[in-house]
Amino acid sequence: MTQDWLPLPGTPVEELDTPAIVIDLDAAEANIAKMQQFANDAGISVRPHTKTNKSPYWAWKQLNAGAIGICCAKVGEAEQMAAAGIPEILIPNQVITPRKISRLMSVAGTTKTIVAVDSAANVADLSSAATAHGIELGVLIEINVGMDRCGVDPDAAPALAQEIVKASGLRFDGLMGYEGHTVAARDFEDRKTEALRAMDKLLSAAAGIRQAGIPVNIVSAAGTGTYNISGPLDGITEIQPGSYIFMDGDYLEVFEDFKPAMTLLTTVISKTGDRAVLDCGLKSVSVDRGTPYAVGIEGVEVGSPSEEHTKISLSGEAKNLSVGDNVSLRAMHGDTTINVHDYYFCVRNGKLETVAPIVGRGKFR
Ligand SMILES: Cc1ncc(COP(=O)(O)O)c(C=O)c1O
Repeated sequence: MTQDWLPLPGTPVEELDTPAIVIDLDAAEANIAKMQQFANDAGISVRPHTKTNKSPYWAWKQLNAGAIGICCAKVGEAEQMAAAGIPEILIPNQVITPRKISRLMSVAGTTKTIVAVDSAANVADLSSAATAHGIELGVLIEINVGMDRCGVDPDAAPALAQEIVKASGLRFDGLMGYEGHTVAARDFEDRKTEALRAMDKLLSAAAGIRQAGIPVNIVSAAGTGTYNISGPLDGITEIQPGSYIFMDGDYLEVFEDFKPAMTLLTTVISKTGDRAVLDCGLKSVSVDRGTPYAVGIEGVEVGSPSEEHTKISLSGEAKNLSVGDNVSLRAMHGDTTINVHDYYFCVRNGKLETVAPIVGRGKFR
């Protein structure tokens, strides 16, 4: 791929080609530091979920700040991170089918790898593959803590833990449970009530396994919205937040514990009276959690994007916008917007500091 169009460090933001994901480095680095400090104070570890950032550039910043490893949603993301030398990867999802399991073994051959399971059949398949490859694969049982996505009920955990302990090639590391049904609840008390209920399930599963005489070293939980609810509970050993690094429009409605660090820089390509058109659309900004909004300027009302166009209505100071001017948007959902971009344009004091490739983009297999 030709890269000779990429801008050089020092380029002013307004000279970047658009649409471009612009990251405020000071804000993102402050978010990484704040989450790590919180965990240090609480005596727990951070294993950030890189399904948000999809980039070793950010994973290394998180590790250098003190994270013990990272999470990757998919084997494809893990392959990219392992190739970049990331030393420890948890896939907090199920890896099923021979082709995927074989790719997982390749990752596990180069970096310490842990995977989540929720069935005895999957344990047997992983065990055969790990034994054949002569590796030891870490395994966490995923507990369904109320999200009703994947995971076993707490009562079923001891029997599954026995299966893992017996299986050659596998190392039983512990449990995980993601309370994704409550991480984005707007009201703190609602979020807390549901998260505590969810963590009761996770911790009771851990107690059941210990009663069966099996040690549980890892109890992993929490997303951004519950880092300070689930994280400090006795028995939780680590948190796996992802969105905190950039904070999207949706999460900023939950709380402002972390700083907004990501915008989509766009350009006005047409203007007719009080109506203008931006050069972004569904192929560069997601709308699954709502329409993006303009930041840094009053009077821009953003309409529904089509493929490559987004109409905006102008009032107040925004009426002065001209063709060629920039407008910064905030996506309501960062992860799905990042997933369609090749690069982060990382900026400090209004100038480009570095361009970081989003190597995990589209790695959904
Ligand atoms: C298993 C798991 N852990 C952690 C997270 C991180 O959540 P958040 O984006 O709320 O930080 C997610 C998000 O989808 C997840 O699926």
